[in-house]
Amino acid sequence: MQNIDTYCLCREKRKHYIYYLYSGKKNSMKPITISQGHTYSTTWSSPSNIALVKYWGKKGEQIPANPSFSFTLDKCKTTTTLDISPMDTCEEEYSVKVYLNDTCEPSFVPKIKEFFARIKQYAPYLSDYSFTLHTANTFPHSSGIASSASGMSALALCLVDFENAFSAVKMSESQMKHRASFYARLGSGSASRSIYPVGAVWGEHPSYQNSSDLYAVEVEGIHKVFTTFLDTVLLVEKGKKSVSSTIGHALMKGHPYAEKRFLQANENMNILHTILQNGDVNALGTLTESEALTLHAMMMTASPYYILFAPATIAAINEIWAERKNNGTQVYFTLDAGANVHVLYPESAKDTVRTFIDEKLKPLCAGGAYIHDNVGGGAEKIS
Ligand code: PMV
Repeated sequence: MQNIDTYCLCREKRKHYIYYLYSGKKNSMKPITISQGHTYSTTWSSPSNIALVKYWGKKGEQIPANPSFSFTLDKCKTTTTLDISPMDTCEEEYSVKVYLNDTCEPSFVPKIKEFFARIKQYAPYLSDYSFTLHTANTFPHSSGIASSASGMSALALCLVDFENAFSAVKMSESQMKHRASFYARLGSGSASRSIYPVGAVWGEHPSYQNSSDLYAVEVEGIHKVFTTFLDTVLLVEKGKKSVSSTIGHALMKGHPYAEKRFLQANENMNILHTILQNGDVNALGTLTESEALTLHAMMMTASPYYILFAPATIAAINEIWAERKNNGTQVYFTLDAGANVHVLYPESAKDTVRTFIDEKLKPLCAGGAYIHDNVGGGAEKIS
């Protein structure tokens, strides 16, 4: 049997692989079958992640314009139960129902259907079944923390679990993860990285073995200081951001600094590779801060230009710099495409940084809200 790396081959070959995998017999196009009246149910939990080298800009079918690296988080996660049963109506192409915290959420359905339409060529069974999702996030809805990375990866894992359960040829754990990452990427680029423990790379880069534009891979051999790294997310601004990441990525097309930025990200991935092995916390922190500010500089120099910082974002950054300068504390920040601030620090600085957060940063958070998170173990099957 070919392994998932055949995704790198042409689409025709990929298709054959998919059919082979889910029918269990080479060249037989027999679809997965669950008999009428039966339901397959699976539950996966998948975390959010925070990029240190940022993915910003894409090509073609969700191919990143540059490689990225993220730490996988632990506490901010989505748990999704997917119930799959044979479709009893032919009215729609996809039959999807979504419940968020046990409340029916029809507003989530278009996004899931769009995701299904993107992966349908690799998962042709999607139009033969009805899908009911029960999903819950550990972080508050509209907190400004994007649920797309954790949500899409949890759903992708449920689908791959279903495929594996009904395939005569079973996937290995790593094939399952790569396949789920491949699907997750088509839902939301950064979701591809959430599946793996500690740290993951998405996007081909010579320093990272087996790295691919099509799915993320786990980075092995990360220094132990980073395996216990801490991330406190300051909820500076709640609610939906004014410009979505989808628009932000699109604005990198024709951006005057795009090519230089993509080169810089590649160089930063090289530098990061060394840091991840030698455990240099200060080097990691400063590279990460530079990446965050570059991401926002890309937004401010796009056409049309825009700003996602809030005044409190800049106030928090200045407090972090002052704490580092005045007290030598190992505390750093990074930012997503939004106003919230991720405060990064090693376990050894935990007590000092948490006191600093309560005294200086908590007053800058909306309603004083923040979430203490840490580098985590990746997605897991719950049942
Ligand atoms: O996965 P998307 O399309 O939501 O884009 C994520 C972009 C950043 O969070 C800003 C960077 C990254 O690599 O996660």
